[in-house]
Amino acid sequence: MSHLRAVPSGPTNPSCDSSSASPRSGSASSVRVEAPGKVNLFLSVGAPGPDGYHPLTTVFQAVRLIETVTARRQSAQDHGTVTLTLEEPDADVPTDASNLAVQAAMLLAEATGVGEGVDLLLRKRVPVAGGMAGGSADAAAALVACNALWGTGLPLPELSALAARLGADVPFPLTGATAVGSGRGDLVTPIMTRGSYHWVFALAEDGLSTPAVFRRFDELTGAGQPAMRDVPEALTAALRAGDARALADSLDNDLQAAALDLRPELAEVIAVAEDAGALRAIVSGSGPTIAALVEDPGSAQRVSRALKASGLVAGVLRADAPVSGARVVG
Ligand code: C5P
Repeated sequence: MSHLRAVPSGPTNPSCDSSSASPRSGSASSVRVEAPGKVNLFLSVGAPGPDGYHPLTTVFQAVRLIETVTARRQSAQDHGTVTLTLEEPDADVPTDASNLAVQAAMLLAEATGVGEGVDLLLRKRVPVAGGMAGGSADAAAALVACNALWGTGLPLPELSALAARLGADVPFPLTGATAVGSGRGDLVTPIMTRGSYHWVFALAEDGLSTPAVFRRFDELTGAGQPAMRDVPEALTAALRAGDARALADSLDNDLQAAALDLRPELAEVIAVAEDAGALRAIVSGSGPTIAALVEDPGSAQRVSRALKASGLVAGVLRADAPVSGARVVG
């Protein structure tokens, strides 16, 4: 249990009072950190273990949809709490202790013995519950921001170990770029890639629950659960060559059938994107976001237009990839 208290809704304009800093504290009164969302280029899922988690082999790519967490030193009266304020208050995101960014701050405080607390301000750009690890990016950003604000200075391997306790997808946005994930997806090994890739993301009105998609995967595969596959050589070769067409041929997501079973209309979204010239469109992670890989910015524009005109999607975002992991920007 952390000795910090989560306070549901943060003050609208938290004050910065560096006089309340503990002796080990960093010198800044606020630290701003950016962390990226992700798409899974490859996702092979095995049979669940006794803890309910599924072993994975995946390839993550960090995309330029960027979450921003600003960690601010607290005024004396808030001292010892963790508050979270949303930059856009209508975002459908909790601000209490169920928010992964709040949990991240509390976990880091507990692990390092910090007692001073923090006010977090969150700007969201990754779709909520969209299969793009936006909440995980928030947690990764909060870890890095508080680590700097509090002057705790944990190195990346230790932050990654804390991140894995928060959720399987939290370590990757610390590293960013392109990486193989194994274990629950939390053991991250960067891989070499060349070039830039262009994505169009089709957003759904309502999110999908990750556990529900994994459950449907289990139901669909039943006793005949497929053996986990290694990352195909063709995929790593395409990434090394910077060859988007070859990468498109290798994109593969074991959770796609489960997500389409829960949301059959997503198959139409994939068809619209591919008919408009996407090299390939797939479900992103556990969905319901559809990720369309396109050749160039011109094609991105055509695919975006077609998706918007289809009336099937709640929104469309464009992003290039890969981008770096969580980093201090101010
Ligand atoms: O780790 P995280 O809290 O993000 O996972 C959310 C849920 O997704 C888990 O409770 C589990 O149901 C499912 N999951 C899984 N296997 C994984 C990752 C997530 O079954 N490797």
